[in-house]
Amino acid sequence: MAINIAKIPSPSYVLEEKLLRRNLELLNRVQNESGAQIILALKGFSMYATFPMVYKYLSGATASSLNEARLIVEEMGCLAHTYCPAYKPVEFADMMRYSSHITFNSLNQWNQFKPQIEKHRRKISCGLRINPQYAEVSTDMYNPCIPGSRLGITRDLLGEKLPEGIEGLHSHTLCENDSYTLERTLVHIEEKFGDLLHQIKWLNLGGGHLMTREGYDHAHLIKQIKRLRETYHIEVILEPGSAIGWQTGYLVSTVLDIVDAQGIDVAILDVSFAAHMPDTLEMPYKPRIWGATDAVEGKPTYRMGGMTCLAGDFMGDYSFDQPLKIGDTVVFDDMIHYTMVKTTTFNGVGLPSIGIWKENDEFELLKKFGFRTYKDRI
Ligand SMILES: Cc1ncc(COP(=O)(O)O)c(C=O)c1O
Repeated sequence: MAINIAKIPSPSYVLEEKLLRRNLELLNRVQNESGAQIILALKGFSMYATFPMVYKYLSGATASSLNEARLIVEEMGCLAHTYCPAYKPVEFADMMRYSSHITFNSLNQWNQFKPQIEKHRRKISCGLRINPQYAEVSTDMYNPCIPGSRLGITRDLLGEKLPEGIEGLHSHTLCENDSYTLERTLVHIEEKFGDLLHQIKWLNLGGGHLMTREGYDHAHLIKQIKRLRETYHIEVILEPGSAIGWQTGYLVSTVLDIVDAQGIDVAILDVSFAAHMPDTLEMPYKPRIWGATDAVEGKPTYRMGGMTCLAGDFMGDYSFDQPLKIGDTVVFDDMIHYTMVKTTTFNGVGLPSIGIWKENDEFELLKKFGFRTYKDRI
């Protein structure tokens, strides 16, 4: 049965449980066939009401902050794989408590925290993030290999032998990429770091593997992973975020007003691109709206206006079969990954509610936000 938008309060992010399960089943198949561990990157998707389901299929989760690590322990019931650009001394004891694996971004940080790791009552497997200086990411904002990137250690800074106590390497250079980009990236990783791959137990190939996008060549990915496992006798870990939440839900909004802006019809919505869909402005990209197309001459056409006072908080233009009216529902597609985790209350605008369209075709409202949320942040 199709999701019934009339049952969903506006504005809301709504995830379809059956679509999430479909993604997880696919990722689990890749895990089983490749022998890799796939873990969820919370930075892209951390709707923790779904964590029990996620953990039925995936091998755990990865954190990039103390809060994410704690959420993994509390809501997924496992220890986190943790990587942060830098760890704070005051937080490090808790980081160790919440983590099974900790990856360091520099040799300085490793040397600083190594004594604590060695004294910890439970063994923590430690790794270093490397920078292979090769990425196929067109937006610099999302490219960890831009010149001067602070993310990862370049080969010239590492000797011929990994420091004592380091068991893994971590490379994250993909962003919504396919397995062929991974293959080309591996050429650079193996060229620069190949000798070190023989010294490790695990290689974490980061996120950006968009395995749930239509057309992704899973057999090719599986081949890459098997080759790595067999050549170097290592565990391979993938930590996608986007791929888990990809195409699993929507942002439901309502038209509050329609204004004639010097000849352009602008529908002002109860959501904001800047506050609720920030990637649309950052990446940037034009999100799909149900029942709308790009502008078509002769059809009712609107620019979508966000509810903040930011001049650039709009997206255009969209054509509909019928003219829009105040009170109409506008549904933005694929608004689950990198949305809820990035919202702000800029301008004091409220946050959309969060809900799940369950597999039994009922809507469950999980979260509603109010003045307290806004006030707590400032
Ligand atoms: C270190 C690391 N791992 C994993 C991810 C998740 O990437 P994605 O959501 O593109 O799969 C990111 C995203 O920026 C990241 O920085």
